[in-house]
Amino acid sequence: MESMGEMKRSHYCNDLRAANVDEEVILMGWVLRRRDHGGVIFVDLRDLHGLTQVVFNPEHSAAVHAKAHDLRSEWVLAVRGRVCLRPEGMTNDKLATGAIEVMVDELRILNTSPTPPFPLDEETEVSENLRLKYRYLDLRRPGMINNLIMRHKAAHAVRNYLNDNNFLEVETPVLTRSTPEGARDYLVSSRVNPGKFYALPQSPQLFKQLLMVSGVDRYYQVVKCFRDEDLRADRQPEFTQIDMELSFVDEEDIYTIAEGLMRMLFKATIGQEISTPLRRMTYAEAMERFGTDKPDTRFGLELVNLTETVRDCGFKVFASVVKKGGLVKSINARGCAATLSRKNIDNLTEYVAQFGARGLAWVKIKEDGSWQSPIAKFFTADEMAAMATDLQAAPGDILFFVADSPSVVHHALSELRLKLGRMLNLIDDKVFDLLWVTDFPLLEYNDDEKRYTAVHHPFTAPNEEDLEFLESEPGRVRSRAYDIVLNGTEIGGGSIRIHQQEIQNRAFTALGITPEEAADKFNFLLRALEMGAPPHGGIAFGLDRLMMILTGSESIRDVIAFPKTQKATCPLTEAPSTVARKQLTELHLQPDW
Ligand code: AMO
Ligand code: AMP
Repeated sequence: MESMGEMKRSHYCNDLRAANVDEEVILMGWVLRRRDHGGVIFVDLRDLHGLTQVVFNPEHSAAVHAKAHDLRSEWVLAVRGRVCLRPEGMTNDKLATGAIEVMVDELRILNTSPTPPFPLDEETEVSENLRLKYRYLDLRRPGMINNLIMRHKAAHAVRNYLNDNNFLEVETPVLTRSTPEGARDYLVSSRVNPGKFYALPQSPQLFKQLLMVSGVDRYYQVVKCFRDEDLRADRQPEFTQIDMELSFVDEEDIYTIAEGLMRMLFKATIGQEISTPLRRMTYAEAMERFGTDKPDTRFGLELVNLTETVRDCGFKVFASVVKKGGLVKSINARGCAATLSRKNIDNLTEYVAQFGARGLAWVKIKEDGSWQSPIAKFFTADEMAAMATDLQAAPGDILFFVADSPSVVHHALSELRLKLGRMLNLIDDKVFDLLWVTDFPLLEYNDDEKRYTAVHHPFTAPNEEDLEFLESEPGRVRSRAYDIVLNGTEIGGGSIRIHQQEIQNRAFTALGITPEEAADKFNFLLRALEMGAPPHGGIAFGLDRLMMILTGSESIRDVIAFPKTQKATCPLTEAPSTVARKQLTELHLQPDW
C-alpha cells in the first residue's frame, strides 16, 4: 500500500470535459470496473460526483501498466495523468466525462478491498438487509449518494429561507419528558435518579411553545424526533422534522411562510417551480370526495355518496347499513370494465377486506346500458337508473360499492382508489400535487378509551366559531389545525395553539383530562401560558417524507444515511443490542445481586 505523499487531487471524477484535453490532472477514487482489452487496461474511477475512465497503456508506461494488472473493484487509487480525447467511436454520450479519458503516468494504490458482498452498480437488485448491513458500500452507489446530496441541498435551502425570514434556530433537549404527539415514547432510564426516566421527544412541541413565551418570536430547528410506532414505508422510529413556531400570527401567516419554504425547496432540489397560493380543502371535503385526510389529487376516481339514493332500495345489505347510520359510497372506474377481469375483481375484494370491508359490490355497464353484476337482481330499473345518474355511469364503466360504517367505507374506498389509480396507470409521476387540508375536527371519539382524544394534540386551538359546542357537542368543534399533503402523503402539519389558560382548561375537560392529570403532565407549560404567552402557532414538516417524494424513492429509508429496518433494527451496528448486566444494575433496571 502506498501513501498519497505529495499528490493533491486536482479534480473530482465528474469534472473533466473535452476542454481539459492536454491538462495534467490528479484524480482519487475507487475502482468501479477494470477491463483488460488485450494489453490496454481501462479503469472506471469513481468518487462522490461521478466517473472518469483512466487508461493504463503499456506503450505509454510499461511500469504503470504492470501495476494496474492487480487492480480490483473498490480498491482506492490516486492517478496522475494527462487528459486525452477518446478515440473516434469510443466516446460515451451517457457519461458526463464520456468524451475524454486520462492516460495514466503514475498510479498509487492507497488501499485494497476484498470483493464487495454485492456489485456497486445501479442495476443489480440487492436485498435491503444486505444493503443496510454494508450501508457504507451501499451509499457509494450513485443513486444513494445523489439522495444524500439532494437532502443536503434541501436542508441548506430551508435554513437559508428561514434565516432570511427572521427565524432563530434554537436547539431543544433530547433527554426530556413525554411529549403529546400520541405515539409510544422511547424511554431512557436515569442512573442518578433511581426509578426515573427521560423520554426522547416525539417532537419539540412543548419547547417551541415555551420559546414563544420567551419572546423568541420565530423559531426553527431541523430536528430529530423519536416515536415508537408500527413502522411503514413512510415511517421511521427516528426521523427529522423541519420544525417551526411563530408568534403574533394566524393561519394565513403560517401558510405564507410554509408555501414560500416549499417554493424554495422544490427549486433548490429538483429545479421545479410550484405555483402558490396552494389549493386548500377542508377535512370534511377531503373525506367526502376521497375518503382520506391526505388525498392524492393527481387523478380522479372520486368517491360518490349514494347513501340517500339507496336508503330504501331492495338490496338489504345497502338499506340496512343506511338504517344503522352507515354510508354507501361508490367509485366509477370509467371505461375500465373490459380491463378488469373477474380475477382482478376478486383480488380487489380481498384487498379491501384488509381495511374492514365486508364485501365489494361491483357493476359493469354493458353497451346497452344494462348491468352485469351479482347485485343487479336486487334493484328495480328506477333504482339502477338513479344510481347510474349519481355516478354518471356510461357503457364500459365499472362501478365499485362499499356499504359500512363511515370509517370503514372511507378507509376501504380510499385504499381501493389508490390501488386502482396505480393499476390503471392514472397517476403521473412527474406531477407534484401540494395542497392544504384545513378545518380538522378538534376531537375524535375513541371507542376503546370511551372518551374524546385530540386529533392533533391537546394544545391546538379550537375554531372560535365552534367554541360554544366544546362542552355540549365536542365532536362538532373544528380546530385551527392544518396539514400539508404532497401526492397523497402527509408531509407536514401544525396548528394555531391555545395561548390562554381558560380555554386550555376547557379543552382538557373536553378531553377527559382532569386538572390534576394536566398539572402532573404539563404543569411547566400551563404555568408558562399564564405568564404572558403571546398568540402563537406553527408547523412541522417531515423532511424524510419530503425527500422520499422529491427523489422518487419508494421508502424513506432510501433518503436516510443510516436508517432502521421495518423491525426498528440496524443491521449495520446490530442495534438494539443486549447490554452488560453491570450497566443494567447501574441504571437500576436489575437488582445488584
Ligand atoms: P406531526 O405529528 O404531524 O406534528 O408531525 C409532523 C410531520 O412529521 C412527519 N412524521 C414522520 N416522518 C417519518 N416517520 C415518522 N414516524 C413520522 N411521524 C411524523 C410527517 C408529519 O406531517 N409537533 C407537531 C407539529 C406542530 O403542531 O407544529 C408534530 O409533530 O410528515
Ligand atoms: P351477497 O348477497 O352477500 O352474496 O352479496 C352480493 C354482493 O354484494 C357481493 O358482490 C358482495 O361482495 C357484495 N357485498 C356484500 N356486503 C357488502 C358491503 N357491506 N358493501 C359492499 N358490498 C357488499
